Amino acid sequence: MVACVVKSDPLDKDAEPFVEVDPTGRYGRYTDLLGSGATKKVYRAFDQEEGIEVAWNQIKLRGFADNEVMLDRLFAEVRLLRSLKNDNIISFYNWWTDEKDNTLNFITEVCTSGSLRDYRKKHRHVSIKALKKWSRQILRGLEYLHTHEPCIIHRDLNCSNVFMNGNSGQVKIGDLGLAATVGKSHAAHSILGTPEFMAPELYDEDYTELIDIYAFGLCLLEMVTMEIPYMECDSIAKIYKKVTSGVKPLAMNKVKDPQVKSFIEKCIAKQSDRPSASQLLQDPFFDGLDDDQ
Ligand SMILES: Nc1ncnc2c1ncn2[C@@H]1O[C@H](COP(=O)(O)OP(=O)(O)O)[C@@H](O)[C@H]1O
Ligand SMILES: [Mg+2]
Repeated sequence: MVACVVKSDPLDKDAEPFVEVDPTGRYGRYTDLLGSGATKKVYRAFDQEEGIEVAWNQIKLRGFADNEVMLDRLFAEVRLLRSLKNDNIISFYNWWTDEKDNTLNFITEVCTSGSLRDYRKKHRHVSIKALKKWSRQILRGLEYLHTHEPCIIHRDLNCSNVFMNGNSGQVKIGDLGLAATVGKSHAAHSILGTPEFMAPELYDEDYTELIDIYAFGLCLLEMVTMEIPYMECDSIAKIYKKVTSGVKPLAMNKVKDPQVKSFIEKCIAKQSDRPSASQLLQDPFFDGLDDDQ
């Protein structure tokens, strides 16, 4: 195991100091935040053993001390992520709890350009071909999760939970904090997710992995229009009303390319008409794209 190099060397004034090192001394955390969400703070960090930059995910457990269900869910992300291996799913490296700070920490692969949402906002002129390549990679990640034994439903797919390596165009699904594994029936029953991206059947508490396909369709819509679907609604109740009565997001009117529009429509169709990730990957929508994997 590597020596812990947390002490700063005065000759080394250009080197970034670690603010924290993991119990084995292998991973060191820098101050800069890659991003944060409802549960995690994610920092830039370094794996001294491999010499690569990594992401240090930190969850404060204090707020959840008395909530067993929530604690179990937080640890579930770690349990699940460590068992997965796919080019389009964030790789998991290590985890530990810090008793002193009462945090759950885990190290994952880092994506250099942050979330797809931020990346798309930063780069406003992107070809349809590039959007198709990003979409195909998200679908490959979903195909892996959905054909996994047992089947995994992500349940919180949106552009802030998809990460981007801008130098290679590689896209990875992350934030499996709400993911569920489901048995043979593929049915799950609790209502959760990000309201704008939640399929209508989710509200009936009887749904399958196809809710991820619906959310993927709205991710593609967001990629195309650079706006979060159902932005016209100012409350969750209004979103719920529109989604459950089959009213499509207004952003659909901004999609000018008929092929893109009909592909999104396929993804957000009612559950019984919605294709699987594997079926969508065979769609002529992706014809003629070179293979980038
Ligand atoms: N591996 C990563 N590489 C780059 N950025 C990341 C990575 N993981 C998380 N982030 C950034 O941190 C944010 C929050 O991470 P996320 O896993 O979605 O946490 P939460 O469960 O709190 O939503 C993301 O939206 C993204 O901007
Ligand atoms: Mg998130």
